[in-house]
Amino acid sequence: MAEIRFGVATSHVPAIGAAIDRGKEEEPYWAPLFQGYEGARKWMADANPDVIILAYNDHASAFDLDLIPTYAIGVASEFPIADEGYGPRDVPIVEGYPELAWHLAESLILDEFDMTICNYMPVDHGLTVPLSIMYDKPEKWPARVIPLAVNVIQYPPPTPRRCFNLGKAIRRAIKNWDEDITVAVFGTGGMSHQLQGERAGWVNTPFDTDYLNRLGEDPESLLEISHIDLLRDAGSEGIELVMWLIMRGALGGSVREVHRHYHVPASNTAAGLIIFEDTTADVLL
Ligand code: DHB
Ligand code: FE
Repeated sequence: MAEIRFGVATSHVPAIGAAIDRGKEEEPYWAPLFQGYEGARKWMADANPDVIILAYNDHASAFDLDLIPTYAIGVASEFPIADEGYGPRDVPIVEGYPELAWHLAESLILDEFDMTICNYMPVDHGLTVPLSIMYDKPEKWPARVIPLAVNVIQYPPPTPRRCFNLGKAIRRAIKNWDEDITVAVFGTGGMSHQLQGERAGWVNTPFDTDYLNRLGEDPESLLEISHIDLLRDAGSEGIELVMWLIMRGALGGSVREVHRHYHVPASNTAAGLIIFEDTTADVLL
């Protein structure tokens, strides 16, 4: 039986990817951020999931304002690295898992989540930077990846509760996949940040800390946050935090926090990372 064993949430700031690509990890600006990733990378090497279901947002790379799917799932066998204006990042191509992705699409749609199915989807920093954060610079990504793109670019994005429930539906779908594989779910984006306007550079550490604290033990308390409160408290791009709830919903009621890192600033953004192991099965024993 396939099992979701791990959840990872992390910011996906493009400058972090550029720092990795250009070997700047030891520079004074970046060193404190990357030191906090060391434990996460060691944990990842041990956890070694076979498949990652990666909830992220596309930033006008695969989709532009002509076409705005609320939820899109990639069912291709490969996902090219998007050119975001300065050439594609020099990272391995992302290998998918079409059979499992189609199973997920079917299960989610029959579970009343109306996914857009993508046979072709270039993937941008929202997906590749989290892989680099967790795996550094491998020749080939160690896990197959099923991309799940979420609209947080054009109002109205999905609600926190809808994202959490989508995570739960992903959990049900994976339970019904009859293959002995380990699955991790990622939620990317955040934490507090605003890239535009008068409040550009907005960071709200008390809000972020509270979000990190509640995500593990009391995720339901995050589901009532309105879009306008997220905008006010976490900044205009802080809305990306709804994707962390897809990850958390895909885990069971009981989780163990195995790693946390929070650093300000990375570019204009509060960079957060949190890893959970699902201990629900242990609790039931
Ligand atoms: C930055 C953060 C993001 O989440 C993003 O998508 C683009 C840029 C930033 O902090 O620079
Ligand atoms: Fe982003």
